[in-house]
Amino acid sequence: MTAERIRIALQKSGRMAEDSMALLRKCGLHIDRSKDQLFCRAKEMPIDLMMIRDDDIPGFVSSGICDLGIVGENVFAEEKAAGETFAAQILERLGFSFCRLSIAVPDGKAYESLANLQGQTIATSYPALLQKALRDEGVEAKILLMTGSVEVAPRLKIADAICDIVASGATLASNGLHEAEVLIRSEALLIRGQGALSPEKEDIIKRLLRRMRGATQAEDSKYIMLHAPRRQLDDIVGLLPGAESPTILPLQGGGDKVAVHAVCREAVFWETMERLQEAGASAILVLPIEKMMI
Ligand code: PRP
Ligand code: ZN
Repeated sequence: MTAERIRIALQKSGRMAEDSMALLRKCGLHIDRSKDQLFCRAKEMPIDLMMIRDDDIPGFVSSGICDLGIVGENVFAEEKAAGETFAAQILERLGFSFCRLSIAVPDGKAYESLANLQGQTIATSYPALLQKALRDEGVEAKILLMTGSVEVAPRLKIADAICDIVASGATLASNGLHEAEVLIRSEALLIRGQGALSPEKEDIIKRLLRRMRGATQAEDSKYIMLHAPRRQLDDIVGLLPGAESPTILPLQGGGDKVAVHAVCREAVFWETMERLQEAGASAILVLPIEKMMI
């Protein structure tokens, strides 16, 4: 019997491709692929990667060609809204590639709600989500389907507004448009099909998920070390953001002082460090955590 492997669909190029690869690298998968290679095998885990267009990812997972997929919520939601036989589900929200699917209108055009677009033309690559939003508000508008460069439609006078992805807002600004209403907030998702998989595959998925969570948690967490006068200990420990039961260690020749070591599950800002110092802490070190398993 050959050992089972799982197959993950990933965006082959584009804004999410790099971040998706980086996450897999943090999970211990070292994948070197040439630019136009569509399939690669990880050596460290029984996992194969399939690099495809992001629009194709939900369908590949839904139909079972791939077991998992990493895809933007915008694309996932669109395919879900469009497909009657869609059978993929969210396994984990991955916390990167944040963006919004928004209505944008030319600068100077008044906008209060979708009702303002009654009878007008809206250009988009997300027809199903836009249609749903319009239907929910009882608005009838014409949808102009474009697969790219949606932001040029108002300038070409082929649409009155657009419904497109906004991240930094730079694309809108450089096209004389502004964000008028957010329809959907989006981030990268790990998705899977709805069908049952073999216990071997389920096991691989469980392991991968544990590593992904470990990598993400580690990224948000810091290891903090400091010296504190014993009588100030309660105040100082209370200032540590998201820390659970810190370790208190005696200091060689430290007199009244002890060392405090703690994992902080939240960002440690300069302000926090200043407050710690004011409370009597010294020798404050904040270190990154590479991996974490709890
Ligand atoms: C999206 C979107 C905008 C741009 C917005 O396109 O369609 O063009 O990003 O990002 P910004 O707010 O940071 O400027 P993407 O780069 O994903 O490519 P595509 O339109 O070709 O799919
Ligand atoms: Zn674009």
